[in-house]
Amino acid sequence: MQKESSFKIYFAPLQESTDYIYRSAHAKFFGGVDKYFAPYIVRQNDGTVKTSHLRDIKSENNQGYLLIPQILAGNSTDFIFLTKILHDNGYNEINWNLGCPYPMVTNKGLGSGLLPFPERIKSILEEAIPKIDCKISVKMRTGLQSHDEIFQIIDILNEFPLSEIILHPRFGKQLYRGEPDEAVFAEVHKTLNHPLVYNGDIESAENLDRLNLLFGDINTWMIGRGILKNPFFPNLLKNGATPEIEEKAIILRNFHDEIIHKYSTLLCGSSHLLMRMEKFWSYFCFGFPDPHKTFKRIKKASNLLKYEAAVNENFQRLRNHEEDECSPNS
Ligand SMILES: Cc1cc2nc3c(=O)[nH]c(=O)nc-3n(C[C@H](O)[C@H](O)[C@H](O)COP(=O)(O)O)c2cc1C
Repeated sequence: MQKESSFKIYFAPLQESTDYIYRSAHAKFFGGVDKYFAPYIVRQNDGTVKTSHLRDIKSENNQGYLLIPQILAGNSTDFIFLTKILHDNGYNEINWNLGCPYPMVTNKGLGSGLLPFPERIKSILEEAIPKIDCKISVKMRTGLQSHDEIFQIIDILNEFPLSEIILHPRFGKQLYRGEPDEAVFAEVHKTLNHPLVYNGDIESAENLDRLNLLFGDINTWMIGRGILKNPFFPNLLKNGATPEIEEKAIILRNFHDEIIHKYSTLLCGSSHLLMRMEKFWSYFCFGFPDPHKTFKRIKKASNLLKYEAAVNENFQRLRNHEEDECSPNS
């Protein structure tokens, strides 16, 4: 029987990357993730939710792993509407996005655009929580304009029965610039009464060891890009090992093939498929020697035949490289 880890890994949601096809393949070939988070669903101007968003959270598309769906809502009506859709689809825990930093979202008072308005956050929770039947967690940044904003929100969050808070300690305007602010995270940790999860830039075991030393009593880590770049990462963190090269290349290849096969039945036309696979390789290339060239080969492929050749070459180079590394003369 496998030993249970003393810590948990959550797979962060990334629009256009961690959809149900990717998540299902990741759970099947790699595992090691305690909760997968779906990218947000949102209510459109006409009041509906996109079909692709609904498809992404349908339970028949998300078998074999624990999924927490996410909503993007800036008022209680939308919050209740979206939560009800998800509850009707069988979910008992839903995550509220207070982190998205992109101006198209924040300018509408959504995502981290709500963080400068603690009273709005309070009234949304006050109105929505009594009317919904599932657990609510929050994924957030420290503010929109500055880290200071979160300190006006902690007391409000403490008033409500939230299941956990996932904090990426950058503020919205930073996008992904600078470093996550560990001191701010530590400050929040002191006064927040909910279970707290750390998120931001975890890309190596050394990284996590350091964070563990800093935040000894945090036992849940959310990782996004680190897993997209190295899908073995959760298992590596939990079990300390990745498979031998030949097995590793086979698993990566099967993972890739399953994903492209599923996209080819979903997407219309080869250009959509190539665009989707380019996005996939923008992270996946980091598991290959010379990621930049690996990705360039994929980008250059103007049709599916050329794409297939580029993929074959990338995998051949991966095997050759690892053989060279392992050879006694290297
Ligand atoms: C392209 C992209 C799309 C993202 N989409 C979402 C999203 O839908 N919901 C969300 O909560 N966070 C989203 N995020 C933020 C990630 O979930 C995560 O918080 C961020 O990447 C930091 O974690 P990491 O350094 O481990 O990747 C997105 C990030 C990127 C780069």
